Amino acid sequence: MNTYFDNAATTFPKPPEVIEKVQECLTRYAANPGRGGHRLAREAESLVETARTEIGRLFGCSRQENVIFTLNATDAINMAIRGWVKPGDRVLATVYEHNAVLRVLFELEKKGIIDVKIVCPQGKNYTPEDFLADLDERTTLVCLNHVSNVTGMILPVEAISQAIKQNSRALVLVDVSQSAGLLHTKLGTIDMIAGTGHKHLYGPMGVGFLVLGEGIELEPWRVGGTGYLSEEPLQPREMPFRLEAGTPNLPGIAGLLAGIRWVSHQDSFSHDQRLVEIFAREIEKTDFTWYRPEQGVGVISLTHPLASPQDLATILDSEYDIASRAGLQCAPLAHKKLGTFPGGTLRVSFSLFHTEEDVLHLTETLRAIDTILRKEG
Ligand SMILES: Cc1ncc(COP(=O)(O)O)c(C=O)c1O
Repeated sequence: MNTYFDNAATTFPKPPEVIEKVQECLTRYAANPGRGGHRLAREAESLVETARTEIGRLFGCSRQENVIFTLNATDAINMAIRGWVKPGDRVLATVYEHNAVLRVLFELEKKGIIDVKIVCPQGKNYTPEDFLADLDERTTLVCLNHVSNVTGMILPVEAISQAIKQNSRALVLVDVSQSAGLLHTKLGTIDMIAGTGHKHLYGPMGVGFLVLGEGIELEPWRVGGTGYLSEEPLQPREMPFRLEAGTPNLPGIAGLLAGIRWVSHQDSFSHDQRLVEIFAREIEKTDFTWYRPEQGVGVISLTHPLASPQDLATILDSEYDIASRAGLQCAPLAHKKLGTFPGGTLRVSFSLFHTEEDVLHLTETLRAIDTILRKEG
């Protein structure tokens, strides 16, 4: 029985192919890529370039050098925002942004560098019109989270970005942390895609990516060694060296490459939706409130009138060995919108390693807890 339901935080377990690839890398060619002319360094470099190409293909980027390896999504988002905005700029963002976006924006705002406008949806989900009203001459960036890590809601990022491009010069940055591997996102009207390897791409932690549209030039927010043009006192302007300083996470990149290849052979979205439907049928029989979006993935936020999310997560963990996540999930504004701030919700989230039986086990456990709470309450 798979009782790990915290896949929105990080997917676990990982496919055997990912584990094997990391092990192969560490045992056979874990030399420093791009920092030596010898055979092992070249082999390491070749793996990095293959991964760059395949990530590019996944996100519709034909320029290999526009795929930048980062530590995680947080790093990629910092790189994108800090590398793009200038003093006096205005940035729009959704209420569903993770703190990986919000804290960068609010810090820059506090320092007086930019103005931030959090756009609220008029209806249940965002429409392009929600953003058009807020665009002005100073708006140079719009940050969109593709899938909420609180409710699983899918935002119509392509339609929004198309409208933004038709009406302004602002760039669109899409955070695909929760959607990559489940939904397709391509460059086009979207200018920058930031993601992380350890969620639905099934890679290890410690590796993420930023994919840039053609002609987008960011200032580096981290400078240092590139193994290239070492005589130059300043960071080389060429991509990807401009944005990639320091030794990359080669085993992480190897694992991410294997994860991307593995997930591309799965019908991950259909599997996810099947599990969501089973969950929906069963949870109705309880007093749990589910903050279910009209269009969403298997990231499920719940509250119960008789117990706090934290207590529910503790009961699940200590009594039933079920892993979940309680609280604000690093997305405080999403909870303000839902009316679940500051206590947050109990979040359960699925992966390709769950079967229908696993989800039934989860719902039966939630029903048992509900019955006990009702008796006690
Ligand atoms: C929507 C979203 N953005 C960004 C992140 C940050 O990802 P990482 O911790 O890998 O940087 C997360 C992680 O939970 C997320 O769900």
